[in-house]
Amino acid sequence: MIELCVNIKSQNKNYPIYIENQNAFALKEKLIKFLEGKNFLVVISEKVEKLYGKELGFDKSIKFILKDGEKEKNFKNYKKILEKALKMKLTRHDAIVAIGGGVVGDIAGFAASTYMRGIEYIQVPTTLLACTDSSVGGKTAIDTQYGKNLIGAFYQPDAVFINPKFLKTLDERQFKSGLGEVVKYSFIEKSCKCDEDLNLTNFLSEKTTDILNRDEKTLSKLIEICVKLKISVVEKDEKESGLRKILNFGHTYGHAVEKITNYKKYTHGEAVVEGIKFAFNLAVKRNLIDKNYKFFADDVIKKFRFREISQFNMEKMVELMQMDKKATSKNVVFILPTDYSTVDEFQLSPDEIIC
Ligand code: GLY
Repeated sequence: MIELCVNIKSQNKNYPIYIENQNAFALKEKLIKFLEGKNFLVVISEKVEKLYGKELGFDKSIKFILKDGEKEKNFKNYKKILEKALKMKLTRHDAIVAIGGGVVGDIAGFAASTYMRGIEYIQVPTTLLACTDSSVGGKTAIDTQYGKNLIGAFYQPDAVFINPKFLKTLDERQFKSGLGEVVKYSFIEKSCKCDEDLNLTNFLSEKTTDILNRDEKTLSKLIEICVKLKISVVEKDEKESGLRKILNFGHTYGHAVEKITNYKKYTHGEAVVEGIKFAFNLAVKRNLIDKNYKFFADDVIKKFRFREISQFNMEKMVELMQMDKKATSKNVVFILPTDYSTVDEFQLSPDEIIC
């Protein structure tokens, strides 16, 4: 078992992250031990419930099953989760456990942050994207008709239990979506200012086949590297006032791809990969990097065989990027590569983006 620790100094909060290949029942036993007799509500993804519900064996009375898909991360389900917690008479000393991907983690975490002004919550991520990124760092939210994640809170979990074995049953597109965020970490590694030299780029090129074959040991290591990078960033900047913005590498254009296709055509990771390619092209145009680094990045991306994405009208894309919650006036905030595994923040005008 690998045990990592997140230390958010501004909140005086430490929490453990356990990475262990085990069966669902063994994980449940550890979870219960961690909760030390507290009552808890389990918010679980419908897919995970179908695959592992029996083995996990949580009683129906303490379960809220959330249908899959981003559209479920809404006010209605948020309200239902809180009502279920109230019906169960959970107190401020009890907990919410989120078992699923990013959608479950985000909505259950947000419910935990507001129930009785905040109760304990535990993340059990079951997608690669949630294991490597969204379960760590305390971003919780729901979506509204005005946009994604516009209502939420920074609210750190009390523990994260990662079981790479769950990834065996993840569908291929969702697995690749997670790989999109993983590849992102390789291009921002040095900027994450981690004390350890993890060399994710090397790991990705040496272990491509094992990763694509979902070898458990390889996935454990891969998750460990990404989580260490994420911990390094969020410990230095929990609320995204500075360093944490680098995690948005590939997201400015990526979010616009998701918006223009109504969040229906591409997964988040596919859109982020397209955003990474866009960022590399912009960086070459602005002489921030030489072409060799762009070709190198293209090769890394090609190895993982991500889905090809259509070209969109650039004027429309710029308009969408200007609406991003991180944009300032007409300028768009981009995280661009400036050297190998190094990125920086730039504010670009529409002309500078389209040129
Ligand atoms: N997923 C980006 C972040 O946690 O900041």
